[in-house]
Amino acid sequence: MYRSILLDRTMSCTIIVGGFFGDEGKGKIVAHVAHQDRPSIISRGGVGPNAGHTVRIGEKEYGVRMVPSGFVYPEAALMIGSGVLVDPRVFKREVDLLGVQGRIFVDGRCGIIEEEHIARDRGSEHLSKKIGSTGTGCGPANSDRVLRTSRQAKDVPELADYITDVAEDVNRAIDNDEVVLLEGTQGFGISLYFGTYPFVTSKDTSASQIAADNGVGPTRIDDVIVVFKAYPTRVGEGPFSTEMTMERSHELGIEEFGTVTHRQRRIGTWDGKMARYSAMINGCTQAAITGIDRVDPACFGATDYGQLSKKAKDFIAQAEKDIGKPVTLISTGPEMSQIIDLRGEL
Ligand code: IMP
Ligand code: MG
Repeated sequence: MYRSILLDRTMSCTIIVGGFFGDEGKGKIVAHVAHQDRPSIISRGGVGPNAGHTVRIGEKEYGVRMVPSGFVYPEAALMIGSGVLVDPRVFKREVDLLGVQGRIFVDGRCGIIEEEHIARDRGSEHLSKKIGSTGTGCGPANSDRVLRTSRQAKDVPELADYITDVAEDVNRAIDNDEVVLLEGTQGFGISLYFGTYPFVTSKDTSASQIAADNGVGPTRIDDVIVVFKAYPTRVGEGPFSTEMTMERSHELGIEEFGTVTHRQRRIGTWDGKMARYSAMINGCTQAAITGIDRVDPACFGATDYGQLSKKAKDFIAQAEKDIGKPVTLISTGPEMSQIIDLRGEL
C-alpha cells in the first residue's frame, strides 16, 4: 500500500480490452500506450488467430492474427499467454513477415490449432453459417482442449525456439516494477460467458480472462483500459441492438471490412447501456474512445482536448456518464500520432 503510493504511475500492469463486439481499435491504443509507457513485455491473451489487426508495411496491408499488435513498439518482448490458441503456420508466417524473431515467445501450454480444426470450423453448418465464425479453427480447437485431446505448443518441434513460461516471465517483470501490457482480443459482446450467446466466440473475452490467459492474478492488475468505438461494429451473426441500416452508415461515410474474413462489418450507434455493463464486468479504470472523427469530422487528427468541437466533447461527456469512468484516450484518426492522451491528468 505504502509502496504503491511511492511508485511512478507508469510502473504497472495494464490490461487493454475491447468494450463492444471487437475491432474497436485496440491495436492503435496498445501501440500508443506502449510508446508512451515503454513496457518491457507486451503479452496477449484472447482466443487465437480469429483476431485480426491490420498493419501497413510499405504499400501493402497485412492482417496480423497471432503476433501481439504491440509489435510496432520495438523495445518490448512479445508474448502469447498460455490461454491463447496457436496456429503454428500462421504464427511462423507472421514472425517472418514482421521480423520479430528473437523477441517473440509462446507459452508451452498454449493449445494448438490443427488443419483439421479449420476444416471442422468451415465444414460445420452451425459454426460457419448460424454463428458466422471466422473459420480459423478456434471453436473446434478450444473444444478439443476442453476434452483434453489437443496438442500443446511444447509438443510442436517448429515452435521449440519460441517456448517460454509466459506467466513466470510476466510476473517477474511485475515484481521488478517493469511496465507490462496485457493485450486483449475480440470484444466484450462476443464473450462466451457474458456476450450474446450462442452468437459468441469460444471463450470469455473480458479483462479477467486476459489476466488468466497470461497467468496474472487479479490483485496484480493496476489498470484496465476498455476501448470503445464511437460507432460500434459487429462481424458475424447475432443481436446488435443499436445497428443502423446500410443506407445510414453510407450517409455517415462509414464502411468497414473484417481483417480476417473480409466480411463487411455491421455498424451501429453508441450503446450506453452496453458500455456501462461492459465497463462493469471488465473492471474498467479508464476508457478509450476511438473514431471520434466520425462523430465530427472536424476533429480529425486532433491531439489536444481543446481542439475538439462541442459536439465531440458532448459525446465524450455522455460516454463518461455511461461508463462511469474517465475517458483518458481519444483516437482522432488512424495514425498513431492522431490521439489525445489525458492519462496524465487523472
Ligand atoms: P469464432 O471466434 O471464429 O468461432 O467466431 C465466433 C463469432 O465471433 C463470429 O461472429 C465472429 O465474427 C466473431 N469474432 C471472433 N473473433 C473476432 C474478432 O477478433 N473481432 C470481431 N469478431 C470476432
Ligand atoms: Mg480485429
